Amino acid sequence: MDRIYETARLLDEYLLFHYGSEGEVFPWRSGPRDALNFAVRTVTEMAGAVPRNRTLDLGCAVGRSSFELSRFCHHVTGIDFSHSFIGAAETLRTAGRIEYSCREEATITRRLTALRPFDSKPERINFQQGDAMDLSCGHCGYDLVHAANLLCRLAEPSLLIARLPDLVAPGGTLILTTPCTWLEEFTPSREWPRATTFDWLQDSLTPHFSLTAQRDLPFLIREHARKFQYSIALGTVWQRR
Ligand SMILES: C[S@@+](CC[C@H](N)C(=O)[O-])C[C@H]1O[C@@H](n2cnc3c(N)ncnc32)[C@H](O)[C@@H]1O
Repeated sequence: MDRIYETARLLDEYLLFHYGSEGEVFPWRSGPRDALNFAVRTVTEMAGAVPRNRTLDLGCAVGRSSFELSRFCHHVTGIDFSHSFIGAAETLRTAGRIEYSCREEATITRRLTALRPFDSKPERINFQQGDAMDLSCGHCGYDLVHAANLLCRLAEPSLLIARLPDLVAPGGTLILTTPCTWLEEFTPSREWPRATTFDWLQDSLTPHFSLTAQRDLPFLIREHARKFQYSIALGTVWQRR
């Protein structure tokens, strides 16, 4: 398992990615603004705001989507493998704010404050450190499971795929997004899909789920003020039969 998500650099990058204002993330007049606010859009564009009871945000990182889900879901469990990310998410939940550094270039940084989203419901959220490939049996029958950009960061994604029919309650909803960026440093190539990621998902999930929506979700991660990672995630929504 790669330890990159425990580093201070990634913690800062993800706090900015999840909580930075549009001007803080992308201080330029022209550019891919439709790629901002990804951790909000995976909820607003993929889940709608249909009230749910038990919801799981797998690979929640520093928690922005969990806060968005808490607006209309009564119980939200946010799980991530990174102790550092879960610590920051829990600080935001309890204290409502956390300071972090945003890189301008080289060693030049500036201090920013991430704020818990206004009107979210922190009392509905439980953040936990955990492994999406080895969840305890108590994790089952969720009304909504949201796993954004997690699959291609797992060493054995097939373990999570095999667990999904049990994780999602009959009639419940599964939201998956993935930029399909399969890398040996996270996932050994023997575990990569043999066909396209979409074909692999369809083959794996169709026995238990019906595909109800598919959309492309651009996103932008800032490395420094003049360098960004631009990707387009494949977003799919599935209903458990
Ligand atoms: C690419 S980030 C996506 C984070 C967030 N969902 C988003 O869309 O911004 C992948 C996340 O998966 C987490 N992760 C990696 N392996 C994991 C595992 N085995 N179990 C749970 N989370 C894991 C990482 O710590 C990281 O927060």
